[in-house]
Amino acid sequence: MGLIWKLDQDGIDWDELSELYRVAPLGIKSAGLLESVFTNSMFKCFVYEGDRLVGVGRALADGSDCSYLCDLAVHPDLQGTGLGKAIMQRLIDLSAGHKKIILYANPGTKKFYGKLGFLKMNTAMAIFADPDKAIGSGLLRAAD
Ligand SMILES: CC(C)(COP(=O)(O)OP(=O)(O)OC[C@H]1O[C@@H](n2cnc3c(N)ncnc32)[C@H](O)[C@@H]1OP(=O)(O)O)[C@@H](O)C(=O)NCCC(=O)NCCS
Repeated sequence: MGLIWKLDQDGIDWDELSELYRVAPLGIKSAGLLESVFTNSMFKCFVYEGDRLVGVGRALADGSDCSYLCDLAVHPDLQGTGLGKAIMQRLIDLSAGHKKIILYANPGTKKFYGKLGFLKMNTAMAIFADPDKAIGSGLLRAAD
């Protein structure tokens, strides 16, 4: 079945999106939180196979300097078919003109992003709401 791409959020079922993140898996994200963060994102990609949402990603961008790509997920039934790469490439294309496109990878996905041209940042740092959890999952390194 052909895939249908949607670049706006009109008519998005936020509960269906929340379920996609749960099964991908990319964690538990409530429908309300998703509606808020996608509304505040300049670029968004939703991919459907028929009526079923099978892929998603978004970019929090300022229009000229920085575009931050995040919340990429592909339904397990379609993982490994090139859809994740295609969504990332679409978000990169939409971000054209920004001086930098940044992201951080979930542990285990660095090679996937490397194939799309992302290089490691030497000085990236972050403040997380729950630093202990982020350290535990390998996203952050404890202070020296
Ligand atoms: C990570 C994810 C988005 C990748 O999407 P996908 O559709 O399965 O990946 P693709 O089929 O587009 O893969 C593109 C290329 O990356 C490679 N690749 C995909 N996932 C990879 C991984 N975890 N590690 C290393 N390489 C990977 C593929 O082998 C493929 O290589 P090729 O171009 O040489 O053939 C998807 O597996 C997913 O949703 N995972 C769960 C949620 C998640 O971790 N999201 C990322 C948050 S940072």
